[in-house]
Amino acid sequence: MSEYLKKTLSGQPTTPEDWSAHLLAAHRVAPSMSPQAFSECRNEAGLTSYEWLADTLSHLPSPTKIVDLACGDGYLIPLLQKKVGNVEIIGIDMSPAELTVARCKNLGPSVAFLEAMAHKTGLEDNSIDAVVCHMAFMLMTPIEPVVAEIQRILKPGGIFSAVIGNRPDTRGPLVTVRETVGKFMHKEFPKMAAPVTGDPRVESEDGLSEIIRPLKMLGVRDDQFGVNVEPGGFWNYIKNMYLVGLLSDEVRSRLEIAILASLGKPTGMLRLDSPMRRFTAEKMPWPR
Ligand SMILES: C[S@@+](CC[C@H](N)C(=O)[O-])C[C@H]1O[C@@H](n2cnc3c(N)ncnc32)[C@H](O)[C@@H]1O
Repeated sequence: MSEYLKKTLSGQPTTPEDWSAHLLAAHRVAPSMSPQAFSECRNEAGLTSYEWLADTLSHLPSPTKIVDLACGDGYLIPLLQKKVGNVEIIGIDMSPAELTVARCKNLGPSVAFLEAMAHKTGLEDNSIDAVVCHMAFMLMTPIEPVVAEIQRILKPGGIFSAVIGNRPDTRGPLVTVRETVGKFMHKEFPKMAAPVTGDPRVESEDGLSEIIRPLKMLGVRDDQFGVNVEPGGFWNYIKNMYLVGLLSDEVRSRLEIAILASLGKPTGMLRLDSPMRRFTAEKMPWPR
């Protein structure tokens, strides 16, 4: 169990360093957890959230250099290549375990991977046409140095697009499942503190605009990405989540049973909808 988890479960405050170490441990235990959870979920237009994010690059005038920030196992990169052609793509992540999986995919000579923190990429000033980030921006704290880094490496007129979770818009059976997880955790760990997992301002549009202020916000859209699953599909979705993945096997199996019980005995498949928010911002072009 990580220091972060020990502290959270016993009601002690955590630091950003605890959180980073916890993220590293969780991704070491379960690399590729994000595509496993999200790559089958589609919106009404039939797009996955990865394709939805890649779409924001369609109108870029011939981009030459793209960064996939917190790229995980690189799942997004072939979708970016499909969208914008065989341009130079740099996948950046702090997790060596995720990058090992990414590098094994042999995505071609125009793709490079960098083990680095999002706030300290080491890339040159004004060198990147677009930075994309799928389901990771909401995990980063402190967030201001990350936005400053994105602003620094983007070319003037370059764009930053991200997809983040939109938990307040949770619908359907996932509401029950999340409530079950919350109740289970509080019963199991009565001293548990509210987990600090990133910058909470990311959860509201106003907060997000405040964080993104060094860039010009171009647009925000919300959508649901769903898949029909057997009740067991909810456990597959929850099992590697950050508070759950590093619990003991014994506690995890009781949580799995509690989740299944909370869903009753449905006669058919259940809809698992993931609420997500996408935003796009621009670095101010040079004045003419
Ligand atoms: C939920 S996963 C998403 C991975 C990938 N973008 C995807 O959607 O498939 C979050 C990723 O963000 C990375 N990460 C989180 N905070 C980071 C930071 N401050 N700097 C670099 N990587 C970070 C983690 O290592 C992890 O791979």
